[in-house]
Amino acid sequence: MSKEKKIKGRISTRYLFRFFSFLLFIFPTANYPAQTNTIIPHPRVLTFKEGHFTLDRSTSLYRNSGDSLHAITYLQSHLRQASGFTLSIRQVPEERQIRFLHTDTPIYTKEGYILIVSDKNIIVKAHDSAGFFYGTITLMQMMDAQIWSTNKNKNVWHIPSCYIKDAPHYPWRGMMLDVSRNFFSVAYVKKFIDRMAQYKLNRFHWHLTDDEGWRIEIRHYPLLTKIGARRGPGTKLPFSTSPAMRGSKNQVQSGYYTQPQIREIIAYAKAREIEVIPEIDLPGHAKAAVTAYPKLLLDPEDTSRYRSVQKIANNTINPALESTYIFLDNVIGEVAALFPFRYIHLGGDEVPKGAWSNSPAVKELMRHKGLKTRKGVENYFFTRMDRILKKHGKKLAGWQEVIGGRSKIRRSSLIMAWKNPKAGYRAIRQGYPTVMAPVQYLYFDQQYLRSKKEPGHTWSTPVSLKKVYSFTPPGSARGIQACLWSETLLNTKIADYLAWPRTLALSEVAWSPKEKKNWHDFRRRVKQQALPRLKAQQIHYRGY
Ligand code: ACM
Repeated sequence: MSKEKKIKGRISTRYLFRFFSFLLFIFPTANYPAQTNTIIPHPRVLTFKEGHFTLDRSTSLYRNSGDSLHAITYLQSHLRQASGFTLSIRQVPEERQIRFLHTDTPIYTKEGYILIVSDKNIIVKAHDSAGFFYGTITLMQMMDAQIWSTNKNKNVWHIPSCYIKDAPHYPWRGMMLDVSRNFFSVAYVKKFIDRMAQYKLNRFHWHLTDDEGWRIEIRHYPLLTKIGARRGPGTKLPFSTSPAMRGSKNQVQSGYYTQPQIREIIAYAKAREIEVIPEIDLPGHAKAAVTAYPKLLLDPEDTSRYRSVQKIANNTINPALESTYIFLDNVIGEVAALFPFRYIHLGGDEVPKGAWSNSPAVKELMRHKGLKTRKGVENYFFTRMDRILKKHGKKLAGWQEVIGGRSKIRRSSLIMAWKNPKAGYRAIRQGYPTVMAPVQYLYFDQQYLRSKKEPGHTWSTPVSLKKVYSFTPPGSARGIQACLWSETLLNTKIADYLAWPRTLALSEVAWSPKEKKNWHDFRRRVKQQALPRLKAQQIHYRGY
C-alpha cells in the first residue's frame, strides 16, 4: 500500500470512529429521557434504556423458587408502609409483573443479581437469597425516596428501564455497634440493622460486653446482667470515669437483651440477609463480668493493680483458673445456641499492662507450661478458648491481638485488624481470613473533623466521609468493617450522626469494583439519592 493510501485509510477509520461515537452520544439523549445513575453502592454493569415501568396496586409478583422470599417480603412491607397496598403473588407469569427468577449458576459470585426493568415487567434474577434481596434493594433505590417513608400516600411509582448486572467485591461487609458503653434499645438495634441492609451490608458485629456493661442474658449466670448490666450510684459498677463520655454520674444506666429479644433481632437481621456476630470481649475489657463473678474469674491472691488504656481498674479475667474456663464454657454454650452464625468474636484487644503480674496462679501456670511472657499467657488463654468454641461447633473471631506472638488458634479464625491497615496485611500474609477495620478510616466513633462542635472521639485522626471513601483494602481481605464504639454515643441522634453518611462510603468501598470508585460521582449520588432517603426515615445524618 502506498504511503498516501495508508494515510487515507487512517483518516477514514478515524472519521468512521468519530461518526459512530457521535451517533452513540446523541442517540440516547436525543430520544430518551436522560437517566443518571444514583445507586449506592455503584453496580458493576448498568445501562439505562428507553421508557419506564409503572408500579401501582395492580402490579403483581411472581417467583419460581423459595429463595426470593426475603426479597419479596421486604418489598411488600415497604410498599405497604409507603403506599398502603400489598402486591399480590400470582402463580403464573403475566404482564406488568415483578418476576423473581432463580438461576442455576451465580451471577458473577455469591450474592450477585441481574435486574432488568422494562415498560412491561421487572425481572430480578439470582442464584441465592441474598442476590434476590440485593436486586430488590437496587430496585428500591430507583424508586422515589418515599419508598422508605411510612406515610402511605404514594400510589404510583415510576422506575426507569435498565439492565443491571451486579455482585459484591467483598463477602464481609460489616458494621459494629458497641452496646456496652451506652445501651441501645431493641428498636434502635433493628433500625441500625435495617439501614445496613439498605446499603447491602451483611455482617452485624454486636459488641455485647465490655467494662461498662454486660448486655446479654446468660441463664447460667444471672448476676452477669443483674450486676453487670447496671452502673451508676448504688450499683456495683459505679464508675463513670468521664461523665461527658458516659452520661450523667448521678443516673443509673442499665439495660440488656433477653434471649428471646436476641433471637428476635437475629431473625430480623436474617430476613435482611445479615448475619449477626456476637462479641464477648475477653480477657480484658471485662470489668462487668469480674464484678459480677469475682470468685470465678479472679485469683484471690492476685495483688496486681493496673488500669486499662480507658482507665478502668483491674478489669481482666484471670486465665490460670479452671473456674474461668468452666464459666466461659457455659457462657459460650449459651451464646453458641443463640447465634446461628459460624463465628463468635472473643475480643482479645488491649489486655492491660500489669494484669496478672502478681497473680500466683498465673506464675504457676507460666512455670508449669513453660510460658515466658505475658503474651504467651494470652496465647494460652485463646488456644483454650478456641478449643471451647470448636466443641460448640463455632470458629473464633478476634481483634488482631489474638495472633500476636506464637498463637496456636485455628488458621480458620477470623482476624479483625483495627490498629492500622498494615496489621491486616500481616494477618493476610499469615493466612488468616482478615477483615480490615482500621481506625484511621473505619472507626465511625471518631470525629468527622477536629472541632469542639463535632461529637465523637478524638484519640485517633478525624475520619471524614472522603477519608472513608479513600480506603483501598487489599483484594485478598475477607472484607471490611466500620466500628461504632459508644463511649460518646449518649443518644441515638449522636449515633445516627456519626454513622451517616459515612456508612454510604463504607458500602461502596465494600461492594463496588475499584474501577467504579469516583469521589465526585459518589458525592453526587449521595446528594441526589441517599440524603433524601435518610431524611425520609428521619435519620439524623451529618450534612455537608
Ligand atoms: C479496639 O478498638 N480496642 C478493638
